[in-house]
Amino acid sequence: MKIHTISTAYAVYKRIEELPLEVQKLMNAAIKIKDNAYAPYSNFKVGAALLMADGSISVGNNQENAAYPSGLCAERVAIFHASAKDPKMEILTIAIVASCESNTVSRPVGPCGACRQVLTEYEVKQQKEIEIYFMGEIGDIIRTNSVADLLPFGFDKSYL
Ligand code: THU
Repeated sequence: MKIHTISTAYAVYKRIEELPLEVQKLMNAAIKIKDNAYAPYSNFKVGAALLMADGSISVGNNQENAAYPSGLCAERVAIFHASAKDPKMEILTIAIVASCESNTVSRPVGPCGACRQVLTEYEVKQQKEIEIYFMGEIGDIIRTNSVADLLPFGFDKSYL
């Protein structure tokens, strides 16, 4: 028996102005679309913005439902919309932001497990890493260079 260790490198930015200019623009698109989230049950609004290989930006926000599991996270709304628009277009970067009506979200909010799985699908499909930036309403912004950094041992088509 041998114990192996997995480590994840991530970058921490103190404010949006520290981000590369195109990522600032992307994060601002995520912040803007977050306001349109349909989150009457959790009052937790999430915005996601994707920078595509052609320079275009695709956005999404969380869409809740009275039948709770029927709702969808912001990240998946954005990704599925982008893929529906142009299935061949690569995703370079995703920016994610979240806020809550009842308390200020001051920690970076990473994508949930199901969204990491969906991001894995597209990272494997395009054979190119997707950069992930995520933040709360205020405070630090975290960057990882790939989805694999957030989901080691991800399940993909190679197992099928
Ligand atoms: N949510 C997202 O949109 N993305 C995530 O990665 C985490 C959770 C949404 C789902 C639900 O509408 C609300 O946040 C509270 O869980």
